Amino acid sequence: MPATVIVGLQWGDEGKAKVLDALAGTFDMIVRYQGGANAGHTVVVGDDRFAFHLVPSGIIRDGKKCVIANGVVVDPVVLLGEISELEARGVDIGDNLVISDRAHIVMPYHKLLDGLSEESKGAGKIGTTKRGIGPCYVDKMSRCGVRVADLLNPSEFRGLVATRVARLNVELEKVYGQKPLDAEEVSGEMLSLADKLAPHVTDTVAYINGALDEGRALLFEGAQGCLLDVDFGTYPFVTSSNSSACGVSAGAGIGPTRIDRVVGVAKAYTTRVGAGPFATEITGELGERLRERGGEYGTTTGRPRRCGWFDACGVRYAITINALDAVSLTKLDVLSGLGSLSVCTGYRLPDGSEIDTVPPSLETVSSVEPVYEEMAGWTEEIDQASSFSELPETARAYVARLQELIDRPIEMISVGPARDAIIMCEGGV
Ligand code: GDP
Ligand code: IMO
Ligand code: MG
Repeated sequence: MPATVIVGLQWGDEGKAKVLDALAGTFDMIVRYQGGANAGHTVVVGDDRFAFHLVPSGIIRDGKKCVIANGVVVDPVVLLGEISELEARGVDIGDNLVISDRAHIVMPYHKLLDGLSEESKGAGKIGTTKRGIGPCYVDKMSRCGVRVADLLNPSEFRGLVATRVARLNVELEKVYGQKPLDAEEVSGEMLSLADKLAPHVTDTVAYINGALDEGRALLFEGAQGCLLDVDFGTYPFVTSSNSSACGVSAGAGIGPTRIDRVVGVAKAYTTRVGAGPFATEITGELGERLRERGGEYGTTTGRPRRCGWFDACGVRYAITINALDAVSLTKLDVLSGLGSLSVCTGYRLPDGSEIDTVPPSLETVSSVEPVYEEMAGWTEEIDQASSFSELPETARAYVARLQELIDRPIEMISVGPARDAIIMCEGGV
C-alpha cells in the first residue's frame, strides 16, 4: 500500500522498529512524523544491534530515503551524534536523510526545563525521558519555539533565542531558583551545529507529497504508543505529541485521505516505562521474570520497564482511534515457560460494573480492576518457528484468542529480536 502507517498500540516499545524493518524492503521512503529523541527503536541484524532515536530506522536498508518530518522535535546534538555513529558503522547517510525546515528544535533549555519540572513534581512526576520533549512542544504551541529553518538564518535565530531566553530567565530564577542563561551562549552553541545539519534540510511537505504523487511507497514510523498519545492516552501520564495515526497528517503535511493503511504493533503482553496507571501490571517474581526474559529495559534511558498481562481492552481502544487495518504481535517467545497466561478482556469499576474501553478520568483509569480470562501456556522455545503451524497448540490458541478479542487480523507474529524471527500470517491467523 503506497502510504502505510505503523503505530504502537500500548505504551511504547512494542517492537515497532522490528516490524518496520520487516516491512521496509518494499517501501521507498520511511518518515518519522512525531516525538523526538524520547524514542528508542531497536533493529537487530545478525550480530549488530541498532538503536535509533531520531533517524528513521529504515536508514539501514540501502538506498531508502528517510525523512524527519515537521512534527518531530529535533535535538541537533542527538541527531548529529546518531548520524556520526551510523556512518562509523558503515551506514550510508548522505542524501538518504532529509530533515524538515519546519521541525522545531529541542534547545538545551528544553532539556533543563524537563528535568526541573519533573523534580518539582516530587511523587507526582511523569517519569519523562528528560529529552526536553514536553517543553519543546509547549514552546511550539505557545508560538515561541525555534525551527530548523530559523537555525539556518543566524540573525533571525539569535533574535528568537534572545526573546525566549529573556522570558525563560524569569521562570528559571523565580520558579526554580536557578541561574539565568546567557542567550548569546545558547544560540552560539546551537548555531555551531547548523552547517552539519544544513545539507539534509529541505521542505519535506513538497518532498513527501511529491513522492506520493510519483506513486512511491511510504512507510510512516510512529514513535511511542497510542496510550501515550497526548489526546487519547492516560493523561497526564503521556508524551506531548499525537503518537497515534492521527498525528501523521499534521506531523508530515499530508492530507488524511492519502493514508492507505494503518498497522498496529502490540506486544503479546504489556510494558510501560515511567509513571501512570497500568491495570494489568504484574509485580513481584512473575513481573521480574518477564522483564528479564524480555530484556525489558528502556532503549533510551535504560530504566526497567514495568511488565504486565496483555490488555485487550486497551488495545481495542487504540484500534478504534487508529481505524486500524492489521496487527503485528511481538515478543510471543517471551511468554514461553509460563504455566498459564492471563488476558484482560475488560475493566471492572469500583462499583462492580464493567466497561470495555479506556476511561478518560485519571482517577477512574487508576481504579479499574482487570477482568481476566485464563489461558494455558506452553513450555517450548518458539524462536525458530517460521510458520503459524509450527507453534505449540496452546500458543496458537493464545494468538487466535487475542485476534478474536481485538477483532483485527494478526498478520505478523514476532518470535525473537532477530530479523528472520518472524511469522507472516496474511489475512490473520
Ligand atoms: P520500539 O520502540 O517499539 O521500536 O521497541 P524497542 O526497540 O524500544 O523495544 C523492543 C525490544 O524488543 C528491542 O530490544 C527488540 O530488539 C526486542 N524485540 C522485538 N521483537 C521481539 C520479539 O519478537 N522477541 C524478543 N524476544 N525480542 C523482540
Ligand atoms: P518508543 O518510540 C516508551 C514515556 C516516558 C514517560 C512519558 C513522557 O521507543 O516506543 P517524554 O519524555 O515523552 O515527555 O515522557 O512517555 N515515553 C516512552 N515510553 N517508549 C517510548 O518511545 C517513549 N517515549 C516516551 O517514559 O512515561
Ligand atoms: Mg522503544
